[in-house]
Amino acid sequence: MTAQQAAPHAAPRRVARTVLEARGLVRAFGGVKAVDGLDLDLREGTITGLIGPNGAGKSTAFNLITGVIRAQAGTVRLNGEDISRLPSYRRARKGMIRTFQLAREFGRLTVLENLMLAPQMQLGERLRPVFFTPGRVREADDRVHARAREVLEISRLAALRDEYAGNLSGGQKKLLALARTLMIDCSVVLLDEPGAGVNPALMNTLRDMIRELNREHGKTFLIVEHDMDMIAALCDPVIVMTEGRRLTEGSFEAIRRDRRVIEAYLGGAG
Ligand SMILES: Nc1ncnc2c1ncn2[C@@H]1O[C@H](COP(=O)(O)OP(=O)(O)O)[C@@H](O)[C@H]1O
Ligand SMILES: [Mg+2]
Repeated sequence: MTAQQAAPHAAPRRVARTVLEARGLVRAFGGVKAVDGLDLDLREGTITGLIGPNGAGKSTAFNLITGVIRAQAGTVRLNGEDISRLPSYRRARKGMIRTFQLAREFGRLTVLENLMLAPQMQLGERLRPVFFTPGRVREADDRVHARAREVLEISRLAALRDEYAGNLSGGQKKLLALARTLMIDCSVVLLDEPGAGVNPALMNTLRDMIRELNREHGKTFLIVEHDMDMIAALCDPVIVMTEGRRLTEGSFEAIRRDRRVIEAYLGGAG
């Protein structure tokens, strides 16, 4: 692992409240235990990293935490409440939103339309296309539209508002995915490989945006990411997963020196 920057907020951390707590999560696919007794705590106000070799179970962990797939064992608590049995959209309504490793935007809709559809998509409402909206729902749409305009500014996508999402670069699609989470009133945001396929210039934008949302909008992040510069620059603490479990957790500097972490990565390469 290499990283140019040390975590900017490496000063002693005050112990914050746990917003998300996973205990003993298990999920197997056939004979493969993708997640095998995972314990994970996410503290309020942090940008927590989740790293580990390919196949460690990071995406499956996100799916279990957000209810996209059902755990075979274990519990998930959000702000102390057991949400283990709730479907994904109800977890989203309680303030936990995620992005997916692979982009899920609507290519034939514009950036603005993608934003306006996000609340319906993620909160389990029936889809009603924004462009055929009858008068009686226009007021709600006005509110959504106003929020979309704010989000376009926050996410540096204002100049692209009328562009078809399908025409965006990989990095711009990642910005859009993050922007879509902001259309929903949420406190916990899970990002699955936000930096994948993003060019270096947009990487800085993405990083600034995550930092700003954390510091100024009070959002707590859990981020799966392979780009160690991004992890080093943003994340404290960093949780290391291997073979479906938490191996260790600490500052980036501490985990990069940890023999077990290095071995986990080398083992994963073989
Ligand atoms: N839907 C699925 N069906 C079968 N196997 C899966 C499925 N999802 C994940 N796996 C397997 O579970 C393991 C963990 O995968 P994943 O959670 O995607 O890891 P990571 O995100 O850390 O790379 C891998 O061996 C993967 O092949
Ligand atoms: Mg993954």
